[in-house]
Amino acid sequence: MTDDVLGALGDVPPGEMRAYLHRMADWIADYRETIETRTIVPHIAPGEVAAGTSARLPDHAEPMSRILGDLDTVVMPGVVHWGHPAFLGYFGSTSNGPALLGELAAAALNVSAMTWKTSPAATELEGVVLEWIRELIGLPPAFTGVVYDTASVATLHALAAAREVSGSEIRARGVAGRADVPLHRVYTSDQAHSSVAKAMVVLGLGEENVVRVPTDDAFRLDARALRAAMEADIALGFRPTAVVATIGTTSTASVDPVADIAELCRTNGVWLHVDAAYGGAFAALPEGRWVMRGVEQADSFVVNPHKWLFVPLDFSALFTRHPDALRSVFSLTPEYLRGDATADGTVVNYMDYGIQLGRRFRALKAWMTFRALGRDGLISRIREHCRLASLLADRATQHPGIALAAPPMMAIVCFRFEPAGTSADETDALNEAVAEAVNASGMAYVTHTRLRGVSCVRVGIGNILTTERHVEQVWSVVLSEAQRLGALR
Ligand SMILES: Cc1ncc(COP(=O)(O)O)c(C=O)c1O
Repeated sequence: MTDDVLGALGDVPPGEMRAYLHRMADWIADYRETIETRTIVPHIAPGEVAAGTSARLPDHAEPMSRILGDLDTVVMPGVVHWGHPAFLGYFGSTSNGPALLGELAAAALNVSAMTWKTSPAATELEGVVLEWIRELIGLPPAFTGVVYDTASVATLHALAAAREVSGSEIRARGVAGRADVPLHRVYTSDQAHSSVAKAMVVLGLGEENVVRVPTDDAFRLDARALRAAMEADIALGFRPTAVVATIGTTSTASVDPVADIAELCRTNGVWLHVDAAYGGAFAALPEGRWVMRGVEQADSFVVNPHKWLFVPLDFSALFTRHPDALRSVFSLTPEYLRGDATADGTVVNYMDYGIQLGRRFRALKAWMTFRALGRDGLISRIREHCRLASLLADRATQHPGIALAAPPMMAIVCFRFEPAGTSADETDALNEAVAEAVNASGMAYVTHTRLRGVSCVRVGIGNILTTERHVEQVWSVVLSEAQRLGALR
């Protein structure tokens, strides 16, 4: 292989490119094979990565071999290894072999799935994969899907549809300068994800019009409090527009009573969006299907295969019983893109269902992942993660000085160190310090969260590589750091 720079025009010559691709294949395979030996969080100061590379766009072409070398010397020292099997922070988001192949192929093809015509394969595989997901988690056939990058964006689209059907003609006339638009209110629990409020900001409905409904002892939305909040708003002339129920909240994976919420929504003509970004995957398990009770009455539903269905970032699936409502907000087709969508859905132009025009071939990595793991592979991995989480919850329960901070749910465990004779504030600080110290060790990764104003340590198991040995490793790092800091006495 030579170190020739790019020619004056065109791409790297095919022969050389083949050699670089082989080199990159080895690089990726080596990374996956050695990931467990890495320090999870880099010891690096802000600005260090940027300082390692030119602040100015290079004037001239650089040799590929130097650029690839910098991947190791400049980039890798600043990487947090999310794929490390002892990385148990946030919600698991891991790559896997088949998905990597899909991503490589998608990058090579670089098609845009904006209309069926612009890439039939990307459009049709998107439809196929969405149907697989729908059926896997038990959503009724009345729901049709569309792929976005993230759940935040999916929820934004769902609430845009809710806003449109609520009758204020905001697509056409906007909100600015109008005295005839009522306050559109959206209800969600005090445990719901911040993406709901962000959507309200973007939609011009206002962050203050998110009504945070209290939750019960298990962090589930209180349906009676929701009814009261809606009634109070109606009495004031506000317009209840949507409720966002959560299956698998961010902190504790709690599950809102969707059936009760759905009934309230039906009575009041309010759109029900279900945020199952994390918890939707749990419904793939026969023993997890209960979380879907009432979902058949929802208007829209989001699940993130990039959380717990092992598809790497990014891939979020929005399903709705009202694709027409989505289209009525987002279809705005310039002449050059005039498509030929058919009423029976054989030809779909996904650009009509969202903000984006250019759309990546995301379905390819999902198609490869799902085929390579199979339904039973997906189910057994999710089930194993739940088993590992309950094992960890047992450890926490049995250990003196540690208490569960929430009922363990799905593969999420929250626990709190409660050293005797320590004030509440000191205890909070100690719990946060333990999580920080665990992460600084580089051998394990957890997050801390606050529940009802109290800090605790949160572990989320969803990494495709995580086994019992890794959970034991994380637990022993947690205990030793807690001892060192005086959180365990
Ligand atoms: C319940 C819930 N909804 C939505 C999101 C946002 O997901 P995304 O990062 O795909 O926007 C998260 C992220 O963790 C989440 O926990």
